[in-house]
Amino acid sequence: MFSRRHFLATAAAGAMAGVSHKSFAANGAYSPLEARVQNVQLAPASYGQTEIWGYGGQMPGPEIRLAQGQRVQRTLHNNLPQATSVHWHGVRSDNAMDGVAGLTQEAVATGASFDYDFQVRDAGTNWYHAHNRSAEQVARGLYGALIVEESDAPDVDQEEVLVLDDWLLNPETAQIDPEFTARHARSHAGRRGNFVATNGRYQLSVPVVRNERLRLRLINAANARIFVLELSGLEGWIVALDGMPLPTPQPVPKDMLLAPGQRIDLFVDVTAQVGESAHLLRVEGGKGSSQVAFPVTSPGTRARRGTPTPLPPNPDQAVTGLKSALRARLNMAGGAMGSLDAAILEGERKTFQRLVQANQFWAFNGIVGMTETPLLKADLGQTVRLAIFNDTAFPHAMHLHGMHFREVLKGGALGPLRDTLLTFAGEDREIAFMANNPGDWLFHCHMLSHADSGMMTWLKVNA
Ligand code: C2O
Ligand code: CU
Repeated sequence: MFSRRHFLATAAAGAMAGVSHKSFAANGAYSPLEARVQNVQLAPASYGQTEIWGYGGQMPGPEIRLAQGQRVQRTLHNNLPQATSVHWHGVRSDNAMDGVAGLTQEAVATGASFDYDFQVRDAGTNWYHAHNRSAEQVARGLYGALIVEESDAPDVDQEEVLVLDDWLLNPETAQIDPEFTARHARSHAGRRGNFVATNGRYQLSVPVVRNERLRLRLINAANARIFVLELSGLEGWIVALDGMPLPTPQPVPKDMLLAPGQRIDLFVDVTAQVGESAHLLRVEGGKGSSQVAFPVTSPGTRARRGTPTPLPPNPDQAVTGLKSALRARLNMAGGAMGSLDAAILEGERKTFQRLVQANQFWAFNGIVGMTETPLLKADLGQTVRLAIFNDTAFPHAMHLHGMHFREVLKGGALGPLRDTLLTFAGEDREIAFMANNPGDWLFHCHMLSHADSGMMTWLKVNA
């Protein structure tokens, strides 16, 4: 079984670089967001270009950056050979703008467009990505950062948005492996890449000055890889998780886990000496490799700062009323080395062997994939407690759309606000959230091959 401990012990390491493409959504005017096929230099220069699908033909897509309270107003133009949609991961937006093809909107056909328009009430590090045939479309490159700035800029010298991904490339041709529904990926740990990048660049390097404070906005856009990250020559604090500020910055632990879909905001001070390089390290197989290098180019003139003040809180962060909450349960089962004997697929009970033949592997509460009726129906404003039992041999990153939740920890304390919960084999966990955003919201594993082979459900918040 892949427990948290086992996972940390066996995780291994790598690196990349990136340039962020900045663009500002002008208030009151729609800007285009074109999804199209493009050749880009993804692999090292000794390889040719790789055909990707990207927003604006870029990889990652253009950074969307706005002030808290502004509106995102973007017209998606679909110039892909497939229908698509855009989901704004981490934004507590209007349900009609959530971008889930088949649930909140129809997929936008090739050649068609769709206007997205919603206000962002929370500051934070979020991202946007395709939400139709996501296991394929995200793997092909359809994602970008969505950054909402606090009204008071925090006291840092430099900010870097770091979008981490692993690409599964043909080692001869550097083309993206087109087997997006491969059985092994679906039934095991998901589609894992062989080429790890940051902002689409191999060996990303960001020059820094000694003692300066960096804000690093980490986003995991990979289909399945859980990044295990460490710092070297950098010291600091986690100031936000999944876009939501922590009430008290937490010193960076030795290992940080960043599951697919999750974000971490760090404030880190450069403690490496001039001539050295600090690193964000990726740990695999017990050894670290540079994910991002921070060469120290100048001694600078400043002394290290003290403990940072917390980021300003976003609205509606409290989760209350746990005693009288609506309670529900989610049993996750299936996959390789699991104990699922049979489950309901499209209304029919099927043996696991039959499910395998249908290239489906996972069930929530005995049902494979989306159901007619939601996992739960909550009244607007109701508190919901959802127990989640990972009865599988693999970790899963469960993502709730539309609302952030807090984990109900053993003993009853509440964890930080998050939108994606990483759960390991055999774990019994519980989350709680305020059902304060009306609509139909997806709840699925962000290991996208898992979502595609059964791990997807939804819940309803009545208007
Ligand atoms: Cu980041 Cu349902 O998605
Ligand atoms: Cu999963």
